[in-house]
Amino acid sequence: MSDTTAEPTGSLTSESPDRPTDDVELAVDGLVKRFGGITAVDGATFEVESGSMTGLIGPNGAGKSTTFNCITGIHEPDAGTVTFQGEDITGIRPYQCAEYGLVRTFQIAREMANMTVLENLMLPAKRQRGEALWRSVLPVTRREVVREERELLERVWDSLEFFEIQHLAEEKAGTLSGGQRKLLELARALMTDPEMLLLDEPFAGVNPTLEKKLLEHVHDLREEGYTFLIVEHDMDLIMENCERVIVMHQGSVLAEGAPGAITSNERVIEAYLGGEV
Ligand SMILES: Nc1ncnc2c1ncn2[C@@H]1O[C@H](COP(=O)(O)OP(=O)(O)OP(=O)(O)O)[C@@H](O)[C@H]1O
Ligand SMILES: [Mg+2]
Repeated sequence: MSDTTAEPTGSLTSESPDRPTDDVELAVDGLVKRFGGITAVDGATFEVESGSMTGLIGPNGAGKSTTFNCITGIHEPDAGTVTFQGEDITGIRPYQCAEYGLVRTFQIAREMANMTVLENLMLPAKRQRGEALWRSVLPVTRREVVREERELLERVWDSLEFFEIQHLAEEKAGTLSGGQRKLLELARALMTDPEMLLLDEPFAGVNPTLEKKLLEHVHDLREEGYTFLIVEHDMDLIMENCERVIVMHQGSVLAEGAPGAITSNERVIEAYLGGEV
């Protein structure tokens, strides 16, 4: 235990983090978020292991989405810390998240709804590529630009084919069905080359065949080392696919552990699962 004064939050100069990160990808500690009289998140504390697929479950209004919003800078927490890969990112701006490799799926915003599916996928990938340091110091040749554009388009088409939405490439995103939008949202998040993905109900409205395919893709990505934190109401899906489950209730963590331990946890059964098990 260290008795030195507290480190400033948001420090970017963590050559040697003061606390070993082990294999913890994301740590949330004592997170609090209030909206007027409502305490949406009330001291939530949990860790997500690197390379894991972790489920975040809990009844409606438990504070799951608000927790995601605090982690990714949509909301500034009233208290608590968020640590990603050993670095304090509490109060990060949303646009900084992708730079850290932490990405959540977003609903297709109004301005994106008027762009085609293809354009929606090109944009995040381009933004990411534009951040490469060498671009600001080396002259870019015509050949490089053409090659990169072609590679980018190949990646986008691979993604379209994988998600089976290539026939929608030229459609405006705003005209897609609910399930198709979910696919596009996930495909867009992946275009930024993240290391960790936060998925808030990624399968809602997706038909069972596509859901299965999406899950296979998520498992493949996990084997490559990506980390997933998934909010989902489909209990079977969570229990079958996640090696670790965190249960939120009234803004804090009620229980966490392996799926088997969660389904047999008395407090979880009482507060959430009710008579289902
Ligand atoms: N922007 C906001 N302004 C006011 N209250 C909010 C806001 N966002 C969330 N809340 C409230 O905070 C509480 C937690 O909501 P949150 O959306 O985080 O729950 P959730 O666990 O994601 O629920 P669900 O499973 O229904 O999506 C709820 O009481 C909700 O009404
Ligand atoms: Mg929610």
